[in-house]
Amino acid sequence: MGDVSLFSRRDFLKGLGVLSAANLALWAGGCESCLQQIQTQIQNRPTRKNIQTLWAANPSDPIITTYKAAVAAMKALPSSNPISWEAQAQIHNNSCKHHNWLWLPWHRAYLLYFERICRKVTGDDSFALPYWNWNTHPAVPDPFWDTSSSLYDPNRAVTQSDQADASYIGTSVLQNILNEPNFELFASSPPTSSDVHDDPDGIQGMLEATPHNNIHEFVGCPGGDMCSFISPRDPVFYTHHCMLDCMWAHWNNDLNNPNTNDSSWTNFSITDFVDENGNAVTVSVATTVLFPILTYQYEPCSLMGAQAGQVKRLEGKALEQFLRTGAPSKLEFGPRFEIRKAITAQVGKPATIAIKVDPGALATALGGGPHTRLVLTVADVEVPEKRDFFVRVFVNKPDASGETSIEDPHYAGSFGFFFDEAAMKSHSGAAAMPGRPRTGFLVDVTPMLQKLNQAGSLSSKEVQVSLVPAPQPHREATGEPLTLGRLELAVARF
Ligand code: C2O
Repeated sequence: MGDVSLFSRRDFLKGLGVLSAANLALWAGGCESCLQQIQTQIQNRPTRKNIQTLWAANPSDPIITTYKAAVAAMKALPSSNPISWEAQAQIHNNSCKHHNWLWLPWHRAYLLYFERICRKVTGDDSFALPYWNWNTHPAVPDPFWDTSSSLYDPNRAVTQSDQADASYIGTSVLQNILNEPNFELFASSPPTSSDVHDDPDGIQGMLEATPHNNIHEFVGCPGGDMCSFISPRDPVFYTHHCMLDCMWAHWNNDLNNPNTNDSSWTNFSITDFVDENGNAVTVSVATTVLFPILTYQYEPCSLMGAQAGQVKRLEGKALEQFLRTGAPSKLEFGPRFEIRKAITAQVGKPATIAIKVDPGALATALGGGPHTRLVLTVADVEVPEKRDFFVRVFVNKPDASGETSIEDPHYAGSFGFFFDEAAMKSHSGAAAMPGRPRTGFLVDVTPMLQKLNQAGSLSSKEVQVSLVPAPQPHREATGEPLTLGRLELAVARF
C-alpha cells in the first residue's frame, strides 16, 4: 500500500470528503508526515461482507447487530430529521437516478452516506454495510425475516423460502455481465435528456436491467416497497445495492474494465445526500469511482473463484490511475438491422420476431475483437404497471419457454422493470405524458452469437429473437402484456 499516492493532487482532495474528519483535518493542517497515518487508515478501511454468511456463523455477529440497531435508531427519529429512516427513503423516492449511467455512482454515494449514518447513530465506527449475495443465496437473507426485528418489512411480495430465478442471478448470467468490456452495455447508457435532474431516461445496460431490476421485482412486485422508488423503506434494499456496488468494484478493480471517461459522467455532481450530521454534501462521480480503494473494501462477492483465471489485479497506484483515467465508452452503431412495429407478448404467449440481417456483416463483426460488439436493443418498451413478470431473451430458439435452461446456447439474457410512475412524475414536475412510460434495454449478444456461429447455425439471412415473459418465481403474473415498438440487432464499436 506504500505506493498509493492518493493525495498528490490538492484539487482532488478538495472534493474528497470520504475520509474521516479527523484525518482530513490533519492533512489540511499541512501535516505531510500524517500521510502515513492516512494510508494506514485506508489500508484498514472497513470490509463489507456477506450478510447470510455472517448470520449462518453467528446470528448476533456485530455487523448484523449494528445494522439492526442503526435501522431501529433511524426509525425512531422523526421524518423531519434528515438522517431518519423515512427521510433517507424519501431522498431515493425524490431524486434517485435510474435507466442511465448515473445510477451506479448515485447509489454508491447513497450507500456511503447511509453507512456513515449507521455508524453515527450506533457509535459503532467499525460498521460496514453488509451485502446480499443473491447469486449464492437467492432468497431474501434470514436476518430480514424476524418479525420483531427492525430489519423486517411486512410489505414484501416474497416469502422467506422463495428463491429468485437463475435467469437473472445465475452464475453464467452474472459472468456474462462481468465479462462485458463496454461501460455502457455493463452499466447503462448516457441520459437521453439534457436535464438529467429532471427527466433522466436512457437505455438500460445489463447490470441494471438484469439483477438490479429483477431483484426489486422479485422482492416487491406487485405493490410492495421494493417495487417502487420508496424501496429503501425495506432494509433489504441497502444490502441489494451493496451487492451491485460490489459487482461494479469487482468489474473495475479485479477484472480491470474501465469506466467511461466522458466528462458529462465524471464531472457530474451529486447533491442529494446528507452526511451523518444531517448536513448537505456534494460528491462528484469522479470521486465515487475511488470509494472502493479509499473508504471501504469488499470481501469477494462475485464469482471470484469461477473467474480466477481472468483476474488481472492492478494494485496500488496503477489501479488508482486506471480508475481515474477511464476510457472512451461511446458506442458507434452500424450496420443496424431493425424492426419497427408493435410487438406484444405475455406470460405463456412469447413473441418470436425475425430480423433480416446481412450474415456477412455479422460474421465480420464477430471476428472484430473486444471493441466490436453485437448488440440487441429492445426499445420503446412500455413499463408494465404491476411489473410482476420479467422477460427472457433467446436467439434462434422459437420454442423457448419460461423453463428453457439458462445454459441453453440460445439464451441471451433477461430484463425486468424497476420504475415508479408517481415518483417519476414528481421528479420531473411535468404534466402526465400520454400512454404508459417507456424504456429500453441493451443486451450484448456477442459471446452467444460467437458460439452459435462456431456451431454453424448463424448463416441465414434472418435472426429470430424470442421474447419470453415469465412470472417471478412462486407467483402468478397478473397477465399484463409486454408491449414494445422497436427491436434491433446492430454492430457497435467503441
Ligand atoms: Cu434506486 Cu435499486 O434503486
